This record gives sequence, C-alpha cells and structure tokens, in this order.
Amino acid sequence: MRLFKLNTSVHKWLSLFVGLQLLIWLGTGLYFNLMDHNKASGNELRVHSHHEGNITDFRFIPIKDITSEAPQEVKLIWILHQPYYHFVFNKGQHSYQERHSKLFDAVTGKPFNLSDEQVLTLAKNSYSGEGKLTTPVLSQPPFSDHVRQQNPMWQVVVEDENNTTIYLDSITGQVLRHANDDFRLKDLMMKLHFMDYGNSGGFNHWLIIAFAFSTLFLSVTGVTWLIQQYQNGFLKPVWSSNKQKVAVTFSNENTITDISAVGSSTVLAGLESSHVYLTSSCGGGGTCGKCMFLSSTQLPITLSEQEHLSDEQLKEGYRLGCQHRFSEISSIEVNTDRNIENHELVVVATNFITPFIKEVKFKVKSGKRLVFKAGAYMQFEVPAGINSLRPDDMPENYEKYWESYSHGRFSHDGVTRHYSLVNFDEESDEITFNIRWQTAKDGFRAGIGSSYLGSLQVGETIAAKGPFSDFYATSNNKVRRIFIGAGSGLAPLRSIIFEQLKKHHFQGDMTLIYGARTEDDLLYHNELNLLSEQHKNFSYIPTLSNPSEQWEGHSGYVQHVLLTHLVKGIEAFSTEFYLCGPEAMMNELERIITDVGIPSNQIFKDKFSR
Ligand SMILES: Cc1cc2nc3c(=O)[nH]c(=O)nc-3n(C[C@H](O)[C@H](O)[C@H](O)COP(=O)(O)OP(=O)(O)OC[C@H]3O[C@@H](n4cnc5c(N)ncnc54)[C@H](O)[C@@H]3O)c2cc1C
Ligand code: FES
Repeated sequence: MRLFKLNTSVHKWLSLFVGLQLLIWLGTGLYFNLMDHNKASGNELRVHSHHEGNITDFRFIPIKDITSEAPQEVKLIWILHQPYYHFVFNKGQHSYQERHSKLFDAVTGKPFNLSDEQVLTLAKNSYSGEGKLTTPVLSQPPFSDHVRQQNPMWQVVVEDENNTTIYLDSITGQVLRHANDDFRLKDLMMKLHFMDYGNSGGFNHWLIIAFAFSTLFLSVTGVTWLIQQYQNGFLKPVWSSNKQKVAVTFSNENTITDISAVGSSTVLAGLESSHVYLTSSCGGGGTCGKCMFLSSTQLPITLSEQEHLSDEQLKEGYRLGCQHRFSEISSIEVNTDRNIENHELVVVATNFITPFIKEVKFKVKSGKRLVFKAGAYMQFEVPAGINSLRPDDMPENYEKYWESYSHGRFSHDGVTRHYSLVNFDEESDEITFNIRWQTAKDGFRAGIGSSYLGSLQVGETIAAKGPFSDFYATSNNKVRRIFIGAGSGLAPLRSIIFEQLKKHHFQGDMTLIYGARTEDDLLYHNELNLLSEQHKNFSYIPTLSNPSEQWEGHSGYVQHVLLTHLVKGIEAFSTEFYLCGPEAMMNELERIITDVGIPSNQIFKDKFSR
C-alpha cells in the first residue's frame, strides 16, 4: 500500500512538473509563431557599413617583418578604411569561445589598439536610429545579452526607446550584436523554451536531461498505476448497460429495499437514479468524503477513502459511494432517508438576527409541507455566479462588527452546501435556516454558500434536496438530555428541543448550554428564556466568551459550564449529550464527557464540517 501511494504521488508531482513545462512550451512556441522576426533579432535599426579602402593606396609591410610570436592565422582586415593585420594566436571552434589575437598596422607594422572614438564611430556607423550613443566601455564576460561570449567586448549603450546596446569585438571593432528590449524578450522566450533556466545559452544541459528522465518516469509510474488499479479491481471493463439489483438497508428506518441501477454507474449515481441520496458536497469528485455507505463485501480502498475515512471505518467496511461501481456491491447499508426529494424553495423572510447570522425562511414552492425529524438538514444547490464579500442589507446597529471587512464582489463555481433546519416540521409551514456569513478572511473570498443564501431576497428561489436526518433525538423517554452548542450550531439543537417539548411533550430533564461571543451574538435568547419559563424540565444556560459589564449570566466557554455540571454530578448512564458547533469545541467536549465515564454511544455530534 505504501509503494502504491508513493507511485501515485510521484506520478502526480511529475505530471505537475512536466505539465508546467509543456504549458511553457506551448506559450513560447505560440510567441515564436506570432513574433516579428526582424524586430526580435534586435537588428531593426542596424545597418551594415563598409570599411574597406583602396588596396593600391597603401604600401603594405610584409608580414614576416612584423615582430610577434608566431600566429595560427593572419588576416588582412579594414577598420574605418585603414588596413590592419589580424594575428590570431589561438582560438576555439566557435567565434564566442576564448580567443587570443592582436592587430598590427599593415603599413607601419606597429601593434594597434582601437581608441574609444574609433569604437564610437564604428558603433554609430552600424546604427540608424535617433538615440544618443554614450562613451564605449570595454567590458569583461559574462554578458546578460550574450551569455555564451567568453571574450571581452566593447559595449556602447544607446539612449533610445528600445534600450539598445551595441556590442563590438574588443580587438577588431567588428559589430557583433545589437541587443534591445525586443531582442531581450525573444532571448527570455528562448530560455523558457529550451529550459535554459541556468543561462547556459544552449539546450545541452542537466535540466533538459532531468526533464527527459522525468517524462520517462511519468510514463513508467502512469503504467504502474494503471496496472495497480486493474489489480485492485478498479478497471473492470463494463461491456453492457445491464441493470444490477442491490439490497439497500436504510439504517435510519431499519428497512431493506432492492434497488436496481446500471452496473457501470457509481454507487452514488446508482442510488441517486432511484432517488436515494447519499450526502455529497463535491458532486462525486471524491474530495468531500461525505458519501459514505457500509458494504457487506470487502471492497478495495481508494486513495480518496484513505484520506477521508478512519482506519476503523475502513475496517468495518465503510466506503465512499463515488469511488465504487454499482456492479461491485451486492448489499449495502446507508444512513439516509429513502424518500429524499428535490424541492424548489421560495424565500418568504430574511433578517439578520445576530451581527453575522441571517435567519432565512422559505416555503416549498409546490406547497408541499415537509415532514422530517428535528435535527435534519437540507442540501442546497448554489449556482455559479457573482456574490458580495459582505451583506448589502445589514442593520445599522451591526455595522460596527463589519468595519474591518472590505466591500466588493467575487465570482465562483456552482457548489452544494448543507444547512440545518431551525424549526421542527409541525411548528410552521415555513422552513427556517440560520446562515452564518463566512467572512472573507486574509484577503480570500467570502464563503460561497453562506454569502449566496445570505443575499437571497424575498421571492427568490433556490433548489434544495432533503431533508436528510442523521442527527436526531433518540426514542428514549426516560433519559436526561444535555444539549451543547455554539454559534449557528444552535440550529439543529433548537429544532430538537422544540420538537421534544412541543410535539412529543417530553418529560425528562433537558439542559441547553449555548456559547456565543457577546450579547449581540446570542441566537433566539428571549425565545429560549421564555421556553425555560414555560417548561420546568428545560433549563437554558447561555455563556459568553466576551460579555459586556452588564452581563449577569455565565462567562467563558461552554466547556467550563459543562465541567461545573459534571462536577455537580449527573447520572452518567441515563444522560445523552447532543453537540453542535466548531469541530475543536466538539472534540474537547467529547473528551471531557468520555473522561467521566459516559459511553460514546450516548454522545451525538452534528458536524458542520463534514
Ligand atoms: C450537516 C450540516 C449542517 C450545517 N448546518 C449549518 C447551519 O445551520 N448554518 C451554517 O451557517 N452552516 C451550516 N453548515 C455549514 C455549511 O454547510 C457550510 O459549510 C458553511 O456555510 C461554509 O460554506 P461556504 O460556502 O459559505 O464557505 P466556503 O466557500 O466553503 O468557504 C469557507 C471559508 O473559507 C474561506 N476561504 C475561501 N477561499 C479560501 C482560500 N483560498 N483559502 C483559505 N480560506 C478560504 C472563506 O472566506 C470562508 O470563510 C452545515 C454543514 C453541514 C455538513
Ligand atoms: S461525493 Fe464527495 S467524496 Fe464522494
């Protein structure tokens, strides 16, 4: 398994490396196709001038009379119409390679060196632009405009729009290169195209060799992965679109139903075709880890399952619905309801009830009244579009909380998001949600789902699936219940508490410990106070982490309030705990509760971060 993981991660990193360079090739290749070749050569303003004189006007000194070490070769050259012998003592195969040479006056035989003025004249003669030429400088390699050059060169900077520099041979004054911004851009493109990131001036370097090997490894790891996938049973070819029957146990209702679907479809899609919906917020992409089912047969484990499911879950047989085909399973168990439906919801009221939480009320457009267990949630289809970074309709008294958040808009893809119902089914024909605006942190965008639902206006509609029930009160009537929540995590707890008291007339003790930051952040405070006055078996304990001086209730976190309750003593085996809030808070609460010996099957958690 470790080798398999190593192979796939090597393959992924290599494909990133090779893929990036391929993109660079495509981009630079396109540039070479579209560029103006004359401009890019740097020679747009370069002219060729002739320096030859009339040979009969001079009396040449014989070469043998010149006092010098023995040359490898001698050439007669003309500079500004004067003749010179060019003695070359040693040189490489290419003109840019190191060379040792000298000039001698072809008439007097004396050694000759170019003066600044002569170099300036030669440079001027090669340039047809308007720019002013500055004093020549004899420069040593390396040169950024001519990386391969190993010999010194005269450098004449021209003050023109295109930042031209003229390079001349240090001995002969021959104009070697006009470099300007167009030339430099082409040079950069060449470097990118030939992966010459080390500036070697060619393509015979280690990076290209490494790239060639990377491409080879990419192919090898790709083929290995394919073989591994086949061996693990993931590449079973499906020849027909035959339907397959699977026995599905609905653990919520303890019922079994046979469901048929095309064998080649995923478990997620196969169930969906029979209107059985597993939770998903990635649309089957294998990235949310929510579409769990329990398989009776031992299925192979995919990378996505390794990432999202615990070792215990994998051992028990839990797998993800988007990772396996219907043809692989014969009987499975799912924790979802059988009659999940798609609905179009219409906004009937929308109102900020704390600085960051908006209460949004909907009705089902078809007029249907939804029946669900309190604690349920719905899955909203948020379409792609443009959302605001912060709300436009915030009450004035909450403005102060939003001062540090900037205005603006951001675009996003379509997503699915889940929100818990705040009310229970018989409470009203409306369904209510508390949407906590996920603010734009550290320059990132705001939350897609929360800003979309938080911006809906009365009369607007949205598609939603559900309700889904996997967090609800047990049917145990003789139990004590402690509900602990924070922020928008109150939503499913409120729903259950109201259902228990108003619909089921529950007689056991119920306590709600609810944490918020300030008095303004308390959700449904008056309503919960009233409920506790009306029902002697219900106590409401709000606690604030940042209260004002006027606050007379509990201060600090819900964990501290729970600890004081536990110290006072509770009947461990007849108390159930219902938790909903930030994941870190729930984990700490669970640890505190299990530490006093309460079995974990009496702790129910509604995770918003699934
Ligand atoms: C069963 C269930 C019930 C739920 N019930 C509720 C409920 O009743 N009320 C409620 O408010 N929520 C609820 N949630 C949570 C809800 O589904 C969303 O997860 C939540 O609203 C955030 O989604 P979003 O699209 O607004 O934010 P996302 O778009 O998912 O972004 C989340 C955060 O990441 C930040 N972010 C954006 N881009 C980047 C980046 N590149 N890098 C780092 N950070 C970035 C955003 O600013 C934002 O703060 C529930 C979840 C589940 C699973
Ligand atoms: S649907 Fe998201 S992991 Fe399967």
